[in-house]
Amino acid sequence: MLFFFSGCGNSRHVAETIAAGLNGSLIFIPEAAREGRYEYELAKGESLGFVFPVYSWAPPKLVLDFINKMSLKTDPDYLYFACTCGDECGLTEKVFRKAIEAKGWSLSACFSVQMPETYIGMPGFKLDTAENARRKIDAADADLKVLVPRLQNKEKFSKMIVGSLAWAKSRLVNPGFNRFATDDRKYHTTEACIHCGKCLSVCPLQNITLEDGRPVWHGHCTMCMACYHHCPANAIQYGKATEGKGQYCFGK
Ligand SMILES: Cc1cc2nc3c(=O)[nH]c(=O)nc-3n(C[C@H](O)[C@H](O)[C@H](O)COP(=O)(O)O)c2cc1C
Repeated sequence: MLFFFSGCGNSRHVAETIAAGLNGSLIFIPEAAREGRYEYELAKGESLGFVFPVYSWAPPKLVLDFINKMSLKTDPDYLYFACTCGDECGLTEKVFRKAIEAKGWSLSACFSVQMPETYIGMPGFKLDTAENARRKIDAADADLKVLVPRLQNKEKFSKMIVGSLAWAKSRLVNPGFNRFATDDRKYHTTEACIHCGKCLSVCPLQNITLEDGRPVWHGHCTMCMACYHHCPANAIQYGKATEGKGQYCFGK
């Protein structure tokens, strides 16, 4: 059983690759949370996995909140996570471990793979070039060819890209990010908006409605930036931070 979250498709690709290798079922965390599905039962010997993007050097808050509410009939004998990051993960492993240890579960394996950057909501953050994005995806796919069999064999391992100043990023910057940088009031549309409603359909949190043909955000944003990246007219902007920065979605 594999629980996943993804805004722009990178983590979905990783989750689907792992699920195919492990013959496991895939559960999209925001959907399960919306439907209040928190109780699960693993088959005998079935592993429990989580796949998510790294947000501000930690698992996304919505993933941690979901784990906190989850209950299992029997404890998993093999629990792993895989995360995707543009660059580095900081203390993601430690934060994740704490969340599952609070449930009485323990971590058997974890790894991170670099995938194309999706966060451009602040000045100074930019997307990868097309060549760099391709290179990251190819390298991640090559890693998965080696790592998925290790999950199949229920190996114990940790292969994380921690990076520099991990403590400060995960412990000091991350809480500030969750508190102040997920404010969706800065989202707006330009005259280029074609009123297609694509932003509504791609928002994993169903946080957007159309009013007079234009998207309105309702304050439950996780800042995955799916609405921005999927907009066919590139008409969605986040303040001025996203202007002229281009778009990226996995497989597009
Ligand atoms: C809100 C947000 C915060 C991010 N924070 C980090 C980070 O701390 N470190 C990093 O390397 N990448 C970071 N990224 C990049 C994503 O982790 C990366 O692009 C990921 O593959 C996106 O996954 P998705 O396509 O499944 O949404 C961030 C992206 C977003 C949208």
